[in-house]
Amino acid sequence: MENLNVKITIIDREGNSQTYEAPTDMNMNLMEFCRAVELDVKGECGGMAMCATCQVYVESNTDLTEKTESEIEMLDQAFYVKENSRLGCQIHLHENIGGLIVRLAPEID
Ligand code: FES
Repeated sequence: MENLNVKITIIDREGNSQTYEAPTDMNMNLMEFCRAVELDVKGECGGMAMCATCQVYVESNTDLTEKTESEIEMLDQAFYVKENSRLGCQIHLHENIGGLIVRLAPEID
């Protein structure tokens, strides 16, 4: 049977790194996956690119889809933004992202 999982590594805010098998057949995004594995990611806007509580720093050279206008605008207003910032809710779990390494951005109140 086809393996529909990809390996992704998430580094939490304490610096603990964990590699997960993430499903690519459930139409999930990275914010939802973080919540599903009980990482402390709020995802307050539900994935609409309107809160930035799902911000991550991408630490691998994974070829991710380009940022949408709304993601760019949200990151423009967010705190702790770096060159490699992305919104987790805009990263879809897809076979192309195997090997992805992300670090959770600091929590915002
Ligand atoms: S969950 Fe709100 S911007 Fe991603």
